[in-house]
Amino acid sequence: MTSIEAAQEAAKRNLWLHFTRMSAYEDSDVPVIVRGSGAYVYDQHGKRYLDGLSGLFVSQVGHGRTELAEAGARQAAELAYFPLWSYAHPKAIELAARLAELAPGDLNRVFFTTSGSEAVESAWKLAKQYFKLTGQPGRYKVISREIAYHGTSMGALAVTGLADIKHPFEPLAPGGVRVPNTNFYRAPDFLAGDETEFGRWAADEIERAILREGPQSVAAVFLEPVQNSGGCFPPPPGYFQRVREICDRYGVLLVSDEVICAFGRIGYYFGAQRYEYQPDIITFAKGVTSGYSPLGGMLVSDALMEPFTAGTATFLHGITFAGHPVSCAVALANLDVFEKEDLLGNVRGHEAAFRATLEKLYDLPIVGDVRGAGYFYGIEMVKDKVTRETFTDEESERLLRGFLSQALFDAGLVCRADDRGDPVIQLAPPLICGQEHFDEIERILRAVLTEAWTRI
Ligand SMILES: Cc1ncc(COP(=O)(O)O)c(C=O)c1O
Repeated sequence: MTSIEAAQEAAKRNLWLHFTRMSAYEDSDVPVIVRGSGAYVYDQHGKRYLDGLSGLFVSQVGHGRTELAEAGARQAAELAYFPLWSYAHPKAIELAARLAELAPGDLNRVFFTTSGSEAVESAWKLAKQYFKLTGQPGRYKVISREIAYHGTSMGALAVTGLADIKHPFEPLAPGGVRVPNTNFYRAPDFLAGDETEFGRWAADEIERAILREGPQSVAAVFLEPVQNSGGCFPPPPGYFQRVREICDRYGVLLVSDEVICAFGRIGYYFGAQRYEYQPDIITFAKGVTSGYSPLGGMLVSDALMEPFTAGTATFLHGITFAGHPVSCAVALANLDVFEKEDLLGNVRGHEAAFRATLEKLYDLPIVGDVRGAGYFYGIEMVKDKVTRETFTDEESERLLRGFLSQALFDAGLVCRADDRGDPVIQLAPPLICGQEHFDEIERILRAVLTEAWTRI
């Protein structure tokens, strides 16, 4: 047995892939990615793929960066681990100060986690304890949007708006309340054609939810700057400004879940800066280290921190590996690359070209909508462009799972065919990419989507 065959056997026998039908690999190989360089990754046979999803919205600076690997190795040699429970370590201090400097407004306090789910979980717990400390103990509910993904731990899952991935785990933490998302392509008929009005309506739905639930029971609203799940819904003009007003009116906290959108994905360090709103908390993970080591966290406003600064008050929450020294060192090196190579400038300078290149696909009958911002796009596929009719569950199953995902991968593109909302292809290439990568993405999508149309 070759080492490649042995690895296949062990992968099938011992490894449990996340959100994956393991039966899909009964008769085919588990894809094994062994190395990466720049915008490309390579499998065990040496075949090259363009990483059109940055792994999982993670690899902002691209693969194979020795300066990040070396920063991690240096830190592990000096101090591999010490907890942030009662102690600090230099890299956590330096990173917290640097993130506070980059963040909008008075988000000056950083609570580290290891992942995005933990960041969301921590933000909800903080909101609850904050209100208990400040004389409003009835505030515990959280409002979030339909189809939005905010993580998989029990609390984060209760914030998530995807029914299918929640059902097996019910009952979840109580208090999750859903409002409409900002999918303008699927706006209700009476709002189609006027994006500003649509945005106002969607924001006002948050107010209606607060009033319905009772303002004294609502702790926070969780929103991504651009909603990922469902295929990249940017906020309509004025949406976040209106949401901010509503939150202020009812004393509800605004949490910007930037696990995907922060660190350059949409051209700014934080998505709230692009859309000019001031959150009370920003949750982050993924791109903060470009994946060279796991790290997440939340940035918290001075006002939220204030009740925790006196007497015996303590945020009763912690995670062993949160703010791991190696991850903090890697995050600092990652931010150095952002500065040295002006990655924000690269995204802002090329985003119009990325959009224009993807929009060329509009000549295909299956491409209904191309939407997104920065280096973060979704392409919605439809059965009928004019009526915007979507696929039945059976067609979606056959098209996405039966054909597209595998065909795109076989054609050398890592991206994501997703039908958690209407069927979309999601793209989020590393922030180092330029026109040649956009062209490669377009070429592969064109060939595979053309073939897909013949199979409907
Ligand atoms: C917006 C958002 N929040 C939270 C999460 C959960 O992050 P993690 O998978 O690191 O737990 C994700 C993951 O994709 C996400 O996109």
